[in-house]
Amino acid sequence: MHVPVVIIGAGPAGLALANFLQKSGIGCVVLEARDRRHVEERQRAGVIDHYAGRLFEEFGLAEQVIGGAPVETLLEIRVEGVPRFLDGPLLSGGRPSRLVPQQFLVRRLITAFEEGGGDLRFGAADVHPHDFAGDRPRVTYRDPDGVTHELTCDHIAGCDGFHGVSRRSVPDGELTTFTFDHGIGWYTVLADAPAPRYPLMAVSRHGFAAQFARGPHASRFYLQHQPGDDPRNWPDAYTWEQLRLRLGDDNLPEAAISGREVVEMRSFVAEPMRSGRLYLVGDAAHIITPMGAKGMNLALVDAYALATALVTAVRDGDDVGLRNYSDTCLRRTWDYQEFSRWFTEMVHDSGDPAPDAAFRRRLALARLDRLFTSPAAGAAFADMMAGTAL
Ligand code: APR
Repeated sequence: MHVPVVIIGAGPAGLALANFLQKSGIGCVVLEARDRRHVEERQRAGVIDHYAGRLFEEFGLAEQVIGGAPVETLLEIRVEGVPRFLDGPLLSGGRPSRLVPQQFLVRRLITAFEEGGGDLRFGAADVHPHDFAGDRPRVTYRDPDGVTHELTCDHIAGCDGFHGVSRRSVPDGELTTFTFDHGIGWYTVLADAPAPRYPLMAVSRHGFAAQFARGPHASRFYLQHQPGDDPRNWPDAYTWEQLRLRLGDDNLPEAAISGREVVEMRSFVAEPMRSGRLYLVGDAAHIITPMGAKGMNLALVDAYALATALVTAVRDGDDVGLRNYSDTCLRRTWDYQEFSRWFTEMVHDSGDPAPDAAFRRRLALARLDRLFTSPAAGAAFADMMAGTAL
């Protein structure tokens, strides 16, 4: 079977790309290693920034894919228990983000693609891209019945996340990789606790904590912890005590915890995001800390950049967009990496109680304070939160 584009992976990047191509009349097949249930229920990111939302509008998919999702209003940053509020939409000149849990986005992208007649194959084992250095690439895989298939194509989109096969298939020496460990541990718990009024981040000498809504009756909490320690072993009573201290809320009631995970605070970038006719998209090319909520947005804007480049290449035979794909995406990737690191440093340093961190702590508190006192600093922050066209 021959198809213009084979997409490896059905996360936010692969599914957005599949929908953008379908809307543009370019044929594609999506190969996903896991089963439908796993993909539809995986919980991770939760914010689509204003710029990424506009990409769905451009392809006429906004109503179907993100319609009805709540729009961001205020962000609360609590410093040693004292609340302060940032009005992101106002500071960014009316560019609000939308609060969209990943599984909601993924389910809607799957429905839109399948309703449009899209070919999405779950449970594809041993997926391998071949011959992408030439102009007739192939992808092989085994279906759930154990039958091996081969697809020939013009282009391969590697949307298979950090642990996928695409980046690993690039010949040795072609990629330069950059890894940064932020030296911070993060623990997240999902609890049946009422949602906070606004997304909440708290800075205190007990460490960083955050609380975000996951529907009206559930909250996801994040707590900074010492790297090396496994907080999944913390007794729940200790977790709640830490949350009360860090959020400065003595009355925060204990609630049932249904999920405990450790989040890696590590950043990674692979350059270039292309090898011949294989393009790396989203987490396959880069990972970013959750601070600033840019991981899913980067995956979506990479998908948009590749989709528009593929449309001109396949439809008009003009491959200038494909040649620029990596540079375009890397520029934004590094811009968002810088923002995420800046944000991470600010909220973690400003609560660091270590005696040798006293100077950095004062600097970080000054940086945080400036967001509320300087309209220009507040607007620069809100601009990054809204996402950039670059
Ligand atoms: N073959 C086929 N599919 C694969 C393979 C493989 N060898 N390896 C991984 N996959 C699939 C995974 O099962 C997953 O469904 O590829 C998909 C990759 O999805 P993600 O890891 O979510 O990556 P991406 O689409 O780039 O989205 C990344 O979204 O979840 C948010 O913030 C998060 O930064 C992250 C962003």
